[in-house]
Amino acid sequence: MAKVTQIETRKSDHIRINLEEDVRSGLTNGLERYRFIHQALPELNLDDIDLSQQVFGRRLKAPILISSMTGGTAESAAINRTLATAAQEMGVAMGLGSQRAAIEHPELAPTFQVRDVAPDILLLANLGAVQLNYWYGLSECQRAVDMVGADALILHLNALQEAVQPEGNTHFAGLVKKIEAVCKSLPVPVIAKEVGWGFSKEAARMLVEAGVAAIDVAGAGGTSWSQVEMHRAKNDSQRRLAAAFVDWGIPTAEAILNVREVAPELTVFASGGLRSGVEIAKCIALGASLGGMASPFLKAATLSVEATIQTIAEVSNEIRVCMFAAGAGSLEMLKEVKLVHS
Ligand SMILES: Cc1cc2nc3c(=O)[nH]c(=O)nc-3n(C[C@H](O)[C@H](O)[C@H](O)COP(=O)(O)O)c2cc1C
Repeated sequence: MAKVTQIETRKSDHIRINLEEDVRSGLTNGLERYRFIHQALPELNLDDIDLSQQVFGRRLKAPILISSMTGGTAESAAINRTLATAAQEMGVAMGLGSQRAAIEHPELAPTFQVRDVAPDILLLANLGAVQLNYWYGLSECQRAVDMVGADALILHLNALQEAVQPEGNTHFAGLVKKIEAVCKSLPVPVIAKEVGWGFSKEAARMLVEAGVAAIDVAGAGGTSWSQVEMHRAKNDSQRRLAAAFVDWGIPTAEAILNVREVAPELTVFASGGLRSGVEIAKCIALGASLGGMASPFLKAATLSVEATIQTIAEVSNEIRVCMFAAGAGSLEMLKEVKLVHS
C-alpha cells in the first residue's frame, strides 16, 4: 500500500504542478519560423474541407491527438473519462498516461479504462520504454494494451526526466534491442514517443531500424519535464540540476524534419508545445499525420466534458480555416503544401 501511495503522490504532484506552475520550456516549438502561403483564390468551399483520415485502423474526424497524460489515481480516472468522452464525441485520438502503476498494482487498472465511454476512438496505451531494462517484457506490454483495449502501444522515452528525478530509472543502455523485440512480437503497432525534448536523426534511425510503426516527436517548446521535476525537487541541489535544462531539447518543427529525413514513409505524430490548429496544420505540412496536445487538454478536462469538447472544436475549426486559406481541401493536399521558412 505504501508503494501505491507513492505512485499516487507522484501522479497528483504532476497534475498539480502542470496546472499551477509555469513549466514551459525556454525554447519555442520552432513553428513560428514557418508560414503558409495565403491563397486569395482557394477554389474550395469552406464546408467541403475534409479533416478526416484513417490511422491504425480507426477513422479520425480531425487530425488531433489528446497526448498521453494520466491514470493511477481517482482524480486522474475522472480526467481520463472526461478526455475520452470528449474524444469520442469529436472523433479524435487519445493517449493514456503511463500504465506502470496499474501493471504493478492491478487494482488501479480501472483508472485507465475508458473504452465504455469511447468505443470508437484511436486509443493508445502507454509505458515507459526504460521499464524494458528493468523487468518488463512482451507480457507487460501486452497487458497494458489488453487492460484498456488499445489500438497501439506508445513506449515513451524520457531519459532526461528520469535523470533529474531523485527516484529515476536511468539504465538506458541496450534499450533499443528490447524495443526491437517488442516491435517484432506485439500484435499491435508500437509508437516511440518523447515527452518534450524531441528526436534527433540518430535516435529516429535506431527506432526505425528497431521496427516502430510511428514516432510521436514530442519536441521542445511546450511542457518541460525538467521544469516539472524542478518543482518536485526535495533540495536545492536537485532543483538546480533540473533548472539547468530549461532550454534543452529539439524543437518540434526540427524533430519532425529529423524523422522525415531518416524515414520519409514512417507515420509521424507531431506534439510538443502545439497550442493552435494553425500550428497543427503546419506540422502536417511538414510531414506529420496529426498533432497532439497535452497541457491545453489537461486544463480543459479539469473544467468539464463541455470545455474539452469546445477546445477540440476550436482547434479543429482553426485547422479547417487554415486549410481553406492555404488552398488544401484534404489532409493529403495539406501534406503537399509548401511552407515558407524564414
Ligand atoms: C500531466 C501530464 C502527464 C504526462 N504523463 C505522460 C505519460 O505518462 N506518458 C507520456 O508519454 N507522456 C506524458 N506526458 C507528456 C505529454 O504527453 C507530452 O508529450 C508533453 O506534455 C508535451 O506536450 P504539451 O507541450 O502539449 O504539453 C504528460 C504530460 C502532462 C501535462
